Amino acid sequence: MPRIRLNGTLYDVPAQTSVAAALMNAGLTARQSIEGEARGPLCGMGICFECRVTVDGIAHERGCQMLVHDGMEVTTDAP
Ligand code: FES
Repeated sequence: MPRIRLNGTLYDVPAQTSVAAALMNAGLTARQSIEGEARGPLCGMGICFECRVTVDGIAHERGCQMLVHDGMEVTTDAP
């Protein structure tokens, strides 16, 4: 079971889980709109870009299009 870090907290996540699902399971949203509203995965298929997060230092990755891996570091813009 991969162990990942979401906004600094460690989580054990089942293999083959998407980053977006891991965020939702942890009760986190992906980002913040320009007006400060919480945004999270909407389409789940790579089109809406509402699931963007920083993964292993790379910004604007779509969480719904990426599976977790052991040691992954994910940060969100959301408070
Ligand atoms: S949820 Fe729409 S692009 Fe990821």
